[in-house]
This record gives sequence, C-alpha cells and structure tokens, in this order.
Amino acid sequence: MLSRLTRHFLTGAELSADDLHALLDRALELKGAPDASRALEGRHVALLFEKPSTRTRVSFEAGVVELGGHPLILRADELQLSRDESPRDTALVLSRHVHAVGVRTGDDAIVEELAAHASIPVFNMLTAGHHPCQALADLLTLRETFGRLEGLRLAYVGDGNNVARSLAVLGAIAGVDVVVAAPDGYQLEPEAGATLTDDPVAAVQGANAVYADVWVSMGDEATAEERRAALAPYRLDDALLDRAAPDAIALHCLPAHPGEEITAEVLYGPRQRIWDQAENRRHAQKALLEWLVG
Ligand code: CP
Ligand code: NVA
Repeated sequence: MLSRLTRHFLTGAELSADDLHALLDRALELKGAPDASRALEGRHVALLFEKPSTRTRVSFEAGVVELGGHPLILRADELQLSRDESPRDTALVLSRHVHAVGVRTGDDAIVEELAAHASIPVFNMLTAGHHPCQALADLLTLRETFGRLEGLRLAYVGDGNNVARSLAVLGAIAGVDVVVAAPDGYQLEPEAGATLTDDPVAAVQGANAVYADVWVSMGDEATAEERRAALAPYRLDDALLDRAAPDAIALHCLPAHPGEEITAEVLYGPRQRIWDQAENRRHAQKALLEWLVG
C-alpha cells in the first residue's frame, strides 16, 4: 500500500502540467529565499553515484542541507551493489534508513527496479535514457528569462541523448515546443514528444532558446570518433544562434567542450544563460524534493 502511494521521479512523465508549473513557481520562490524552507528537517536523502558528477552532486548535496536535511553521498564502488547485491535488496534496505534516494547510473532498468521495490521516493539523477532533473532546471531558466513557458520554442542541436529526451518529455508537459535536430542514427524516437529534423538551421528558426550537449555522453566513449564526425555540422556557434529569434538564449547542461559542440564565444558570450542554468539545478531540485518528500 505504502509503495503505491510513493512518488517517484524517473522520467519526468510523473508530473502533470499543474504539478510542473507549481514546482517551477516554487523553485523561483526558493531561488529568492534559499533558506525559507526546512522541508527536510530530520530527513536523510541518499545520493547514489555510479558515474562522475559535478553539478548534480554539488547542487543536491547543498540543496538537501539548505532544506534542513542530511545528504548521504554514496559511491557505487563503496556499496554492495558493486558486488552483485541486487537493486531490489538495496531498495529494501535504504527504505528502512532514509527518506528518499537519488540515483545516477547507466541502465534505466536499475532505477526502475529500485523504484519498484522502494517504499521511499526514488529520483533519477541521470541514466543513459533520461536526465529529468536537468530538464527541470532548463525549464526554470526559460521561465525566469521569458516570464512564461507556454508557446516558447526550444531547439536542441546534436545527439538525441538523455538530455534531449528529458527536454522533449518535460517540454511537452510544460507547453514548450521542443525541436531536436540530429543526424541519422543519433535522433530521438518520435514518441518522446519533440519535433524531429536533421536540419539545425530549420530547427533554430524562430527558437527562443538553442541548446547543446556533449557529443560523447558517459558510456559512449567507444564510439567517440564516429560521433564527432557525424555531429560536427550541429555545433552551436554564433552563426547558428543568429538564425534563431532575436532574443534567443543559448543553453548547455554542462560539462562543455568549447570548440566541439559549442564555441567558446557562445559559452561565455552575452546570449548564454548557461551559468544561471547550472545554478538553477539547486533551486529546481529543492522544489522537487519538497514535492517528493516534504
Ligand atoms: N549537467 C550535469 O548533470 O552535470 P554533472 O554531470 O556535472 O552532474
Ligand atoms: N549527455 C551527457 C549529460 C551529462 C550531464 C551524459 O550523459 O554524459
């Protein structure tokens, strides 16, 4: 009974449009008053990392503390998961000690298995398939830049990966028109909710935001060279940004490789909101934690 009532956040599709808009409203409130909420007083949040992280780790750890809670950073190689203890048994044990668990791992099935057996909220801190916490911060950045979400157009150029998929899923819920420009073999599935094209110039036409992510995601290193060759026409540079709407902003989830998927001129230039976007991870995730646990 308890687990059926438990909220999870694995892909972002768990949020209704009303939930999502309320969560982003709350995130903006918390950005204006970072110490206003003690929603996690006396609560523990496990943050399990099987892959490297800078932003996700730091923003969740700082955010949990700002909410009065206690973050437990768990590296997979320190857990019995790395010695074949199952996600099911890990979920059963974590549920007896902490109030929520975030997971960064390669395989979406691991997060799904944890959620299926946990009686506490499970949230996805990046899998090969999804990065919904990133998309929350991205929508928050659009919202604070343009004052609205409904009817905005966001063009994602590059690899149709986890970040692109989460933008498609959460953008569709928020009323943002997400267009993904990717070459053959690197495109998202149509069911994700975005408009798909292989033409970056067509994608950015009329776009309020142009978004780039790495061409070689964690786990894709074996195919790095062929990826760089296929994705080279999809670099986010000033010339591409000039084809978007006059007030268009540049976004990137980071880490960036200046000169590869984005030029240094865009990454550090006047039209980027990338560093605000990185800060917004913490504010959006605090609102998410309130929704999940508070
Ligand atoms: N954008 C993002 O998730 O960054 P990290 O991999 O550093 O957490
Ligand atoms: N697509 C990238 C995002 C990193 C935050 C990856 O999965 O490595």
